[in-house]
Amino acid sequence: MSEMHKVIYIGLDGSRRDLHVPHGENLRRALLAAGISPYTRFTRRANCGGRGICATCGVWLENQDAPKPVHWHDKAAAAFGYPRLSCQMRVTRDMTIKQVDKWVWGSRRVKG
Ligand code: FES
Repeated sequence: MSEMHKVIYIGLDGSRRDLHVPHGENLRRALLAAGISPYTRFTRRANCGGRGICATCGVWLENQDAPKPVHWHDKAAAAFGYPRLSCQMRVTRDMTIKQVDKWVWGSRRVKG
């Protein structure tokens, strides 16, 4: 049996889901398998399918020791403080992630 990690998912409404994810599993796939979509209503169907191109699958990472980005697009997201691409991240440790308040595409909703 493979090592499992705990992924805590916090929704915009403050709701919490605890997932138990096998080591090395793709985060986007783990979320979708648990019935959690990292997408907006519009991008649920219009996305790149996990290829790291569309930037619609972003999530906020709470952990200071979050997995290091390996994909160029996710590296840029990490460097500029944008949500990390769930499709380009493997679950290699326990982590807490938060849903991003997105508008239509992957961009964040501007408050105020
Ligand atoms: S699904 Fe397109 S960048 Fe992640």
